[in-house]
Amino acid sequence: MENDYFKMILLRETISPHISEETVEIEQLTNFRELMLAYNAAIRAVTTKLEILNDELSHHDKKNPIQVIKSRVKEPASIVRKLQKMDKDITTTAIVSSLNDVAGVRVVVAFIDDIYTVADMLVKQDDVTLIDAKDYVKNPKSNGYRSYHMIIAVPIFFSDRKQSVKVEVQIRTVAMDFWASLEYQLKYKENLKDSNSIEIELKECAETIARTDLKMLEIKNKIEGNKLPRKKHRLYVIKDRTKKKKRNDTHNLQIHEMR
Ligand code: GTP
Ligand code: MG
Repeated sequence: MENDYFKMILLRETISPHISEETVEIEQLTNFRELMLAYNAAIRAVTTKLEILNDELSHHDKKNPIQVIKSRVKEPASIVRKLQKMDKDITTTAIVSSLNDVAGVRVVVAFIDDIYTVADMLVKQDDVTLIDAKDYVKNPKSNGYRSYHMIIAVPIFFSDRKQSVKVEVQIRTVAMDFWASLEYQLKYKENLKDSNSIEIELKECAETIARTDLKMLEIKNKIEGNKLPRKKHRLYVIKDRTKKKKRNDTHNLQIHEMR
């Protein structure tokens, strides 16, 4: 509640240099608060779907493909900045129609093939609508950025209506995530000395990471190919049931606030 109040104030402050106080009607602020509620609910819905998939995949011997789930709702100031950059009005209607990344969920997985397993399983669910997908794993950005991006919509049920809410989902490996968090810092450093050579070094790192990701997948597949025959393996699982169950529990899944 306090947080919502803070958001309302922040929105009013962000807008006030450009629009008169009367224009920022209380109705708009109420709509804004309700909209943020819907985006928060959508994040919870998508996160739960991912946790369930992770549990299920673990049962199928995939060993918790999801390592971390991070999420964030875009800050009001950042929403306003983006709308202004797009030359749009600062209204809740414009937020809904023009912004796809107000709700963001980042999924960090172990291996490259997990990216596609998780993406497929998520969009196959009949209440998930795929709006757009960008495969920066197969087609990396020129700086070396790799990740699988999707814009999806999920239904959120309120007391009197159902609302379809967009969520940006980014899926990447641990190594890609490590790279992206360092590269992200470069964007926000102004007047950085040697920024060109840093860009080149980062690009080299991205290539090394991509090769390592592929090699790790290859090794994993070899290890899995060399596993004991299914029957003996099943015996092992039954014997060691309690230990194994604990290790695969969702409680071990890290859920973080995204920066
Ligand atoms: P935005 O206007 O930034 O949302 O870009 P877009 O609509 O073209 O979408 P895109 O899928 O390219 O990027 C969306 C998000 O992915 C960004 O907000 C970042 O979180 C992440 N991202 C995209 N490119 C890069 C990159 O080069 N480096 C890093 N670190 N993150 C990136
Ligand atoms: Mg964005």
